[in-house]
Amino acid sequence: MQKLKMLTGFRPTGKLHLGHLHGNIMNMIEHQHEYNNFFFLVDWHALSTEYQNPKDIKKNLLDCLIDLIALGVDPEKTHLYRQSDIPEIPELTLYFSMITPLSWLERCPTYKEQINQLQSKDLSTLGFLSYPVLMAADILVVNADVVPVGEDQLPHLEITREISRRFNHLYGNFFKEPQAMLSQSRRVLGTDGRKMSKSYGNAIFLTDDRDTIRKKIRMMITDPQRVRLKDPGHPEVCNIFDLYKIYKKEKIKDIEQRCRKAQIGCTSCKDELADIIYGNLEGFQYRRAELEKDIKKIYQILDRGRTEVRDIASKTIKDVREKIGID
Ligand code: TRP
Repeated sequence: MQKLKMLTGFRPTGKLHLGHLHGNIMNMIEHQHEYNNFFFLVDWHALSTEYQNPKDIKKNLLDCLIDLIALGVDPEKTHLYRQSDIPEIPELTLYFSMITPLSWLERCPTYKEQINQLQSKDLSTLGFLSYPVLMAADILVVNADVVPVGEDQLPHLEITREISRRFNHLYGNFFKEPQAMLSQSRRVLGTDGRKMSKSYGNAIFLTDDRDTIRKKIRMMITDPQRVRLKDPGHPEVCNIFDLYKIYKKEKIKDIEQRCRKAQIGCTSCKDELADIIYGNLEGFQYRRAELEKDIKKIYQILDRGRTEVRDIASKTIKDVREKIGID
């Protein structure tokens, strides 16, 4: 039986942190053997918000690709490519833009939210409004079955499904209705207790060294009621404990007891965690450094991805033109 197609896009916006890793990326890597994978870097989507200052997009794109491979995405089993290498995507975006009502885009919650949040940028552009149309073309140009995304992307995926239905209704059955694959992992909080995010300055990056991780973890607030070493701790309110749930699931009962019975102090508990997190990233950091030495190979991977995906995408466009009647 042919494997289903799993597809997801990454915005190349700079260094990855633990929030990214445990949010969506691990989920996707763990499932990669079950699917025919399409992972790509969405530089055109990045341009929709960075058009005034696009010079970092390309470097970020290469960095992000290296990160993914070093984390365990298998280039032999995955079509790894760059969105701007696939001209069939904007052609499909154009056809979709003909059939997408403006109201679907204007009422999209992420649209309103981002316009408010990113006030320093002028996002009252056609390109930014049609962000979900471009995303629909990304997904449907290969007729993907499942799309691993974070919860914030669900409204976009819903628009993809609506566009697919509308196309099929107008021109005859052709596109699938892709399903979201939500990750089960929990939200990772940053060093200040808010959601981990580069813009909040509270992130632990995948490339941080041992000392940096120790320093950042030491800054984290634990249980405010635990003042002295002998006071019993309350793991349920502690951020450090949440991270232990991710990194030491098999020992979590012991860790809980040690805290409740005040058998370990917060500082030692933090240092142990920092070492575990660093230990977990060490292999990644080594592989990343090796990959960086061989940028030619990274370009070769992108070349191969482009050829493979254009092969599929050009067939889609041929059929779409026929369906619409402009072949
Ligand atoms: N919009 C997604 C994000 O910001 C990135 C993206 C673009 C994407 N095209 C996609 C994700 C297609 C999944 C499928 O994270």
